[in-house]
Amino acid sequence: MCGIVGYAGTSSRVVDHDALDVLIEGLRRLEYRGYDSAGVAVVADGAIHSRKKAGKLANLENEIAEAPLPKSMTGIGHTRWATHGGPSDGNAHPHLADGGKLAMIHNGIIENFAGIKAELVAEGATFLSETDTEVAAALLGKLYTTEAAGDLTLAMQLAVARLEGAFTLLAVHEDHPGVVVAARRNSPLVLGLGDGENFLGSDVSGFIDFTRRAVELGQDQIVTITPDTHTITDFQGNPAEGKEFTVDWDAASAEKGGFASFMEKEIYDQPAAVADTLLGRSDANGRLTLDELRISPEELAKISKIVVLACGTSAYAGSVAKYAIESWCRIPVEVELSHEFRYREPIVDENTLIVSISQSGETMDTLMAVRYAKEQGAKTLSICNTNGSTIPRESDAALYTHAGPEIAVASTKAFLAQITATYLLGLYLAQLRGNLFQGQIKDILADLGKIPAKIQDILDRGEEIKSVARKMAQVPSVLFLGRHVGYPVAMEGALKLKEIAYIHAEGFAAGELKHGPIALIEQDQPVFVVVPSPRGRDSLHSKVVSNIQEVRARGANTLVIAESGDEDVRAYAEFVFYVPETPTLLMPLLTTVPLQLFACELASAKGYDVDQPRNLAKSVTVE
Ligand code: F6R
Repeated sequence: MCGIVGYAGTSSRVVDHDALDVLIEGLRRLEYRGYDSAGVAVVADGAIHSRKKAGKLANLENEIAEAPLPKSMTGIGHTRWATHGGPSDGNAHPHLADGGKLAMIHNGIIENFAGIKAELVAEGATFLSETDTEVAAALLGKLYTTEAAGDLTLAMQLAVARLEGAFTLLAVHEDHPGVVVAARRNSPLVLGLGDGENFLGSDVSGFIDFTRRAVELGQDQIVTITPDTHTITDFQGNPAEGKEFTVDWDAASAEKGGFASFMEKEIYDQPAAVADTLLGRSDANGRLTLDELRISPEELAKISKIVVLACGTSAYAGSVAKYAIESWCRIPVEVELSHEFRYREPIVDENTLIVSISQSGETMDTLMAVRYAKEQGAKTLSICNTNGSTIPRESDAALYTHAGPEIAVASTKAFLAQITATYLLGLYLAQLRGNLFQGQIKDILADLGKIPAKIQDILDRGEEIKSVARKMAQVPSVLFLGRHVGYPVAMEGALKLKEIAYIHAEGFAAGELKHGPIALIEQDQPVFVVVPSPRGRDSLHSKVVSNIQEVRARGANTLVIAESGDEDVRAYAEFVFYVPETPTLLMPLLTTVPLQLFACELASAKGYDVDQPRNLAKSVTVE
């Protein structure tokens, strides 16, 4: 939610960037975080100059083209996902204070803003927007001119001491050209180190065009950047350290690379996402070597229960993991939506392993659930795609997915990489606990190793399902059925369609059909059915084939995803897409792909922006 970028540079360096160019480039890359409005403020000629506009970044760029900004070396930029106040020009960030001398941008929610606002109004302050951010700016402006006596960093320290909630705040003041001050609590912020210039971003994509040297900032920290320095303290002003890391992907991996959308490109990135996530994690004998896990093998061997915490697509990855881990390790696995978890007094203790799954590593619901579980004594392991993000940093252990940057709001390649990582975790636990023979683990790893080529095969035949999607652009509703590991795949297929094509879509466990959902079936209702392998578990296949017949008998238009060679389904399907043969537990890595292609193509056929669907944001950093 909300993308933030800050820049402090100098004109004396070899390449002298205009702050505006750096900010706009950063916002372009961060726009996936929110696109309700965009704005910038730069410090130039002893004054703050700001432009902001509702809607996508392009609107701001048009605004700046009409009313250009002076060249500057310092500035802040923001792309918004609205929380307090609708997506209007007035509510767009930056917000000004101290008589227009100070500008502030914000990501998060300041929970006690109403009380502070009332106090400031009583002192004579007036507000132009409905945002909590303008209140924080006014507070900072007041403290700057009073208690902090013109020290912007000190003013930030004093301001954050009054604020409750989640926030990343960035501020510039006309008295301090070349200085950006930032503070973070429960909301992301990364520092980028350049040569004679420094950067701040919600994540590294905010400055990836300029540097790959980044510093992970801790919770409750303040950072002040100038072109040549960065100073990190805690909220009390005590010196603090950040952890430097090198960004291991380059700007090109965050480009569309000839595809019509990031989503389409990311679907086609999936063979690499799975292969890279498997890479280097086992030896030639099939022995898993997850050295990066910071929980000792002894502790992992002792766990008696796993609780997976995640939201949305990541939670469906967790549901797939449940089938695999329970089967391989014989450990009970519960999968819970993060936002439901901590409000029901869950039973977790030091023998519980919490596995959080988050592409961004910043989802507030998941972060809060992990913190809660940690307080209860549980071990926490984060499966995450974003280096330098909060959830892995606060967890006892991290297992990174190597999907590369995921820009489209709808998750695709991160999902397959998450499933792959949970398989690695399951096999590692089975190895530690002796639940599987080494030879069995080796065989499963070999099957996993074949998955990227099988995904490629599906992608190469993508037109088969895309042509169906184009014909279905006008359908008002689509249902998805699956059993066993096909059930979370059905849920994910429905979610993709809802979020980018705005079509009513529901995923069901096929066995649940007769308990209610079958009442929805009427003539020509499209129903996708994810069919298990006919070689798989006894009777599972025949039960799903019966389910296809049941909906078809009631008029449904049946679209089937089945394993290559499954002739049983043909008689009952209007359309069949075959995926290559693979062991049942690994099937979701294949059966998901045609459903992603279907949603992406259908939404594109409707003319929608598949990368930035309405009302959504990539990184959900508010509860
Ligand atoms: C759906 C989607 C969301 C995310 C969810 C969790 O396509 O992207 O449902 O999966 O918001 O996000 P992360 O994985 O970043 O915690």
